[in-house]
Amino acid sequence: MSEREGKVWRRIALVPGSFDPVTLGHLDLVIRASSLFDEVVVAVLENASKQPWFSAAGRVLMVQREMAALKNVRVVRFSGLLADLAAQHGAEVVVRGVRGGSDLEYETLMARMNAHLRPGLDTVFLPSSPQLTHIASRLVREIAYLGGSVQGLVSEKVAMAMETRAEEKRAEHAFTNRGAE
Ligand code: PNS
Repeated sequence: MSEREGKVWRRIALVPGSFDPVTLGHLDLVIRASSLFDEVVVAVLENASKQPWFSAAGRVLMVQREMAALKNVRVVRFSGLLADLAAQHGAEVVVRGVRGGSDLEYETLMARMNAHLRPGLDTVFLPSSPQLTHIASRLVREIAYLGGSVQGLVSEKVAMAMETRAEEKRAEHAFTNRGAE
């Protein structure tokens, strides 16, 4: 906490994402953000444009469970502009994890656009921890779908949810493709 114009000022950071599913990389990022800021709002994107594996409500629940031990972290669901959400929560910082060069390019663009939409809204990039740099939700979904192990990429609870969802996905595909051969 710090003081601004004689008032106590809490530094609030937003950690937005699709969290489809929440990974150990996300957890690491939020733990680190929670030690850097007074309050962290984890914002789960509702209308993830790509068809998400898990519903928004399901993703929020999963993220809440993973972050339950972090006392200065709240989880919200959002749609619309991140810049508006930041204003709503009094957040002046967005925190994003960066795994490498291509992440940085995309994230820089988003950071500048968010600052354009809401002057004063800044973005802090945290480099992913070296042992987690290979983790991406998209790859985790692909591995689960193909029957591989997602151990070490997501928590045990999330791994179990993924196994169930992967089975449903495979059944859906088998149903859609029946008679196609
Ligand atoms: O986990 P992801 O999919 O990398 O997260 C992307 C996210 C949610 C951060 C991004 O899509 C986002 O901020 N969406 C909100 C819509 C928005 O504000 N768009 C303009 C930002 S440049």
